[in-house]
Amino acid sequence: MLGLGNVGGGVARLLSQKSAALAEEIGRALVLRRVLVRDPARARSVELPAAILTTDPSSVLDDPEIDIVVELMGGINPAREYVLRAIGSGKHVVTGNKDLMATHGVEILQAARERGVDVYYEASVGGGIPLIGVFRQDLVANEVRQVHAIINGTTNYILTRMTQDGMDFAPALAEAQSLGYAEPDPTNDVDGIDAAYKLAILASLAFRTQVPPDEIYREGITRLRAADFRYARELGYVIKLLAIGRRIGTPSGDTVEVRVHPALIAHDFLLAGVNGVFNAVHVQGDLVGNVLFYGRGAGAEPTSSAVVSDVIDVAHNLNAGVANRIPFHYAGRLPVRPMDALETRYYVRLWVADQPGVLANIAQVFGDHRISIASCIQKETDQSAGAAELVIVTHPAREADMQAAVRELTALGTVRELANVLRIESVG
Ligand SMILES: NC(=O)c1ccc[n+]([C@@H]2O[C@H](COP(=O)([O-])OP(=O)(O)OC[C@H]3O[C@@H](n4cnc5c(N)ncnc54)[C@H](OP(=O)(O)O)[C@@H]3O)[C@@H](O)[C@H]2O)c1
Repeated sequence: MLGLGNVGGGVARLLSQKSAALAEEIGRALVLRRVLVRDPARARSVELPAAILTTDPSSVLDDPEIDIVVELMGGINPAREYVLRAIGSGKHVVTGNKDLMATHGVEILQAARERGVDVYYEASVGGGIPLIGVFRQDLVANEVRQVHAIINGTTNYILTRMTQDGMDFAPALAEAQSLGYAEPDPTNDVDGIDAAYKLAILASLAFRTQVPPDEIYREGITRLRAADFRYARELGYVIKLLAIGRRIGTPSGDTVEVRVHPALIAHDFLLAGVNGVFNAVHVQGDLVGNVLFYGRGAGAEPTSSAVVSDVIDVAHNLNAGVANRIPFHYAGRLPVRPMDALETRYYVRLWVADQPGVLANIAQVFGDHRISIASCIQKETDQSAGAAELVIVTHPAREADMQAAVRELTALGTVRELANVLRIESVG
């Protein structure tokens, strides 16, 4: 094993506590032979014989007795080098490293295929929720049409507190940090970076294409305010940070739409009930229809469930003398559809001067950009500032038109603040 931190410790504990059951399942024993760490003197959550710990990667990667290397170090370097070295020496690899698989997955999977070894990475997305195996095997007869996922527990916790308890963003984030759900530097989570990496992995598998994380459109949750949650509820919606993947047929060939952003979803859509640190992935396939995968997306135990299940799978392959039974093959590279081409409904919250004629000005801007207004409600008035808060919901409009309208609205003298523009996601 490479790494003995949160997840590595959980895996080592599980291998020791369930060793008899695992041996019975596999038909031979799983032996944890060596564990690479940075600091062998560090206190660990699991007791291992001191001789097992090492700071020398070669003692894992070059040991001919080792069949399976479990990478749980995290980060890209040196994890990438070690994983490729393990593959090069004919070892099977199990990893929970989303950064590595999102950015170098194709290189790693190709190397494994050429060397005739397996790489499993169920733990890289959604902790203990089965997802990789689902797209790789269980739904493979389908053409997957769309994936809607809540795959970041930290942001889902924050949004749940804002929805259920009327909290504003800053105190909800501070609470998530004090509970250990959010890092001291929460950027990766609140800006949607973590969710985009996971979507890159899921969309690549779901649509059999290569989706680089930097081609995913991304917006975080930092602009959301308590008022947005209140108004969303009045309109029959819940706000969630969604990772969305869609395969879209066009006359010139298929494209994929991949985006991570907060969205309003109908309160009775299954994902609206996914609260706290839980994750869920809603998949639509042409044969199976809608399926939902729900559970704990992080934590030592759920994640070690995925890691050890992968190890067992590899062990079964070793028993049967097979490898690479289900090779990864991406049918070319489908283009990622530009965000400008998206067509969806929008929720717009803005503060305007409380004076006659303002509504007509705003309606004119939307009209000029081919955006039709479905409803416009005046919410609050701030008499001292002479301002009124409006919430506008549109009919489906093109993203490019909406962004042009937003620029024009922001420049209008009567618009005091364009507080938020959110997409309304309907799952057909
Ligand atoms: N935490 C979760 O709930 C979760 C869920 C799903 C997936 N994952 C993924 O699982 C992986 C591990 O996460 P984690 O939370 O367990 O991380 P962690 O607690 O930070 O543990 C990392 C471990 O790797 C070792 N390590 C890191 N860099 C090293 C290097 N250059 N040389 C040798 N050892 C090195 C560390 O050694 P020392 O202990 O000596 O510092 C530590 O034992 C990551 O890829 C993460 O994204 C985590």
